[in-house]
Amino acid sequence: MTSQVQVQDSHITWHQHNIDKAFRSQIKRQKPVVVWFTGLSGAGKSTIAGALENALAELGYHTYLLDGDNVRHGLCSDLGFSEQDRRENIRRIGELAKLMADAGLIVLSAFISPYREERQLVKDLLPEGEFIEVYVNTSLQVCEQRDPKGLYKKACAGQIANFTGIDSDYQPPLAPDLDLQAGAKPIDRLMEECLQTLRSRHIIA
Ligand code: ADX
Repeated sequence: MTSQVQVQDSHITWHQHNIDKAFRSQIKRQKPVVVWFTGLSGAGKSTIAGALENALAELGYHTYLLDGDNVRHGLCSDLGFSEQDRRENIRRIGELAKLMADAGLIVLSAFISPYREERQLVKDLLPEGEFIEVYVNTSLQVCEQRDPKGLYKKACAGQIANFTGIDSDYQPPLAPDLDLQAGAKPIDRLMEECLQTLRSRHIIA
C-alpha cells in the first residue's frame, strides 16, 4: 500500500458535474472547511471536536465529525498501526474530508495523524484557507495518566506494539493554526478557542 496513489488507468477522466461545491455551499449558507485535530491518543481530540460540533450544530451549521476510532471500524478496518498503514489511513481520510468539504460541509477530523508529511498532503488537497490544523497539545505524561481506554498501560506492558508516544513516533505540528493547551484548560474554553479561530477566519459569523 502506498500513500502516493495515482490514477492507475490513464483512460479515466474527471467528470465535471453541474451542481458544484460553490452551489452546495451556498444552499447551506456556509463556507466549507476541514478542521483537522491532531495529537496523541487520549489528548482530547474527539472530545473537543465533539463539543465544537455541538456548538456549530446549535448555530445552524452543517457538519460532519470524522473520528479515528470510528473510521477504523469501517472505511479503514483493514489498516493497522504500522507506519505504512497510518499513512494510508490519513491519505484515505484526507480524500474523504475533501469530498465532504466539496459537499459544502464543515468537516471536523480527529485522528492522531502522527506524521507531518501526511498532514501536509491533506492540506495540499484543499484550497488555501480550507484546512485548519489544530494541535491538541497534551503532554504524553498527562495522556498516560488519563489513559481513558487503558491502552497506554497495555502498550507499556508490551501488549500493544507501535503505540504512539511509546514505541511509535508523533511529530507535533511546527506551525499549527491553533495550539490548544488541552492538558490545562477545560473543554468549554478549548471549544471557544476553536470557535474564535473559525470566526477570525470568517468561516462562521
Ligand atoms: S492514526 O495514527 O492512524 O492517525 P487513529 O487516529 O486512526 O491513528 O487511531 C487512533 C486510535 O486507535 C487511538 O485513539 C486508540 O484508541 C487506538 N489505537 C489502537 N492501537 C493503537 C496504536 N498502536 N497507537 C495508537 N493508537 C492506537
